[in-house]
Amino acid sequence: MAPLQAFLANSAWFAAGSAVAASSAFPRFVGLENWGVSASAVDRAHPSGVSACLASEPKKAAPPPPPANLGGRLHCEESKRVIRTEAEVFVRTYARTPVVIQSGRGCKLYDVEGREYLDMAGGIAVNSIGHGDPDWVKAVVEQAGTLTHVSNIYYTLPQVELGKRLVDCSFADRVFFTNSGTEANEAAIKFSRKFQRSSHSGDEEAPTEFIAFSNCFHGRTMGALALTSKEQYRTPFEPLMPGVTFLEYGDIEASKNAIKSGKVAAVFVEPIQGEGGIYSVTKEFLLALRSACDEAGALLVFDEVQCGLGRSGFLWAHEAFGVYPDIMTLAKPLAGGLPIGAVLATERVAASIGFGDHGSTFAGGPLVCHAALAVLDKIQSPGFLEGVLKKGVHLRELLSKKLGGSRHVKEVRGFGLIAGIELDVPAAPLVEECLSSGLLVLTAGKGNIVRLVPPLIISKEEIELAVEIISRCLPALDRGSSS
Ligand SMILES: Cc1ncc(COP(=O)(O)O)c(C=O)c1O
Repeated sequence: MAPLQAFLANSAWFAAGSAVAASSAFPRFVGLENWGVSASAVDRAHPSGVSACLASEPKKAAPPPPPANLGGRLHCEESKRVIRTEAEVFVRTYARTPVVIQSGRGCKLYDVEGREYLDMAGGIAVNSIGHGDPDWVKAVVEQAGTLTHVSNIYYTLPQVELGKRLVDCSFADRVFFTNSGTEANEAAIKFSRKFQRSSHSGDEEAPTEFIAFSNCFHGRTMGALALTSKEQYRTPFEPLMPGVTFLEYGDIEASKNAIKSGKVAAVFVEPIQGEGGIYSVTKEFLLALRSACDEAGALLVFDEVQCGLGRSGFLWAHEAFGVYPDIMTLAKPLAGGLPIGAVLATERVAASIGFGDHGSTFAGGPLVCHAALAVLDKIQSPGFLEGVLKKGVHLRELLSKKLGGSRHVKEVRGFGLIAGIELDVPAAPLVEECLSSGLLVLTAGKGNIVRLVPPLIISKEEIELAVEIISRCLPALDRGSSS
């Protein structure tokens, strides 16, 4: 069964008979004309054929606000200078797209040459309330002028308020703040080990092993990396933390067998995989993990770093399945673009952690926490999540309608505003062509999936424009794959 169909068949969302979910059965074709958009409207918003200095000849978009330090002049040299300097002085960890972004507003980004981009990458699922949200900016400016950092030796108002907010709106009883997703998973690894040690006294050997799944991504630091399935990320840095078993995502029998060995401290799973290619668990799989963990005394950890905080159309992606973890990790969108991560845990788990067991100098500082409160205010405002669900359905319907006829498109899938377009060829030529046409999209999986994780505040018109551009750029796949 295709992942989306499996999701619909198994999820609480579907079971609840939501009109939105019911209308999203894939594939179902709905035209742009249903929203009153014509190709000419798209043309007006994105005129092509304007001079550009990058190799890919980007086209000029609608007039942007003038970049502050360039007085609105097109300035090709500025991009070249920045890209050259980066190549000279940076450790080569990022194969960057050759565009220098200078400012952003809502779902639009502007480069130093004044070109406008529609942002369907959202800072890799970070900018969920868009760029430069006025309330968020106000919160950051106010807090920056009040108190930015004091360390975790002292209490601060924003940190305690944010912790309470997160606990109140989740399964969890307690929270621990970090600076990133990988750090949140690192903390979850330590908490799992410590929990097991505390629950096995005397001569008993505490379980220390972990289970993770195919296509998973949990981060780049040594513990989280050990739980990340992609071999090319792992092998250059071996030896990693031992005792990690990778199982097929969704394989219930293999999971049950591995968990009942009694050696497993915790099972890490993303309810919706982002980097891995926009795959979702089924309710059946999560339930099986939950009961196998309960029987064996293993912990169940949901990594919602990418899919959490409204991205799925639910505040937490696991709510769609009605299955709850012992620990959940969060990060990306939480502070609207400032670095933060969080580990949410039940009292049972948290009770095993004592003073000095873990810590961080910067984590949960007043600035990021105050920013995060502004993000939560938006995401939890009435109708916001329903809007994400509806927009997600429209996005997938439009993608299916406009791209479904292409011989290269194998599947359109997703939930809420995380969508994947699986291709039978590498996605890079399409991604480059979209960039040239003023649209930022990402890849996922083995590079054959286009990933869309726009700001959750994206409008219907912007969704239509994005799909129209992707559809027009599809011929690039034939040029790129030379098939
Ligand atoms: C599911 C998941 N977990 C963890 C991480 C790591 O987060 P960070 O890059 O903030 O360390 C990511 C990043 O993409 C992710 O998608």
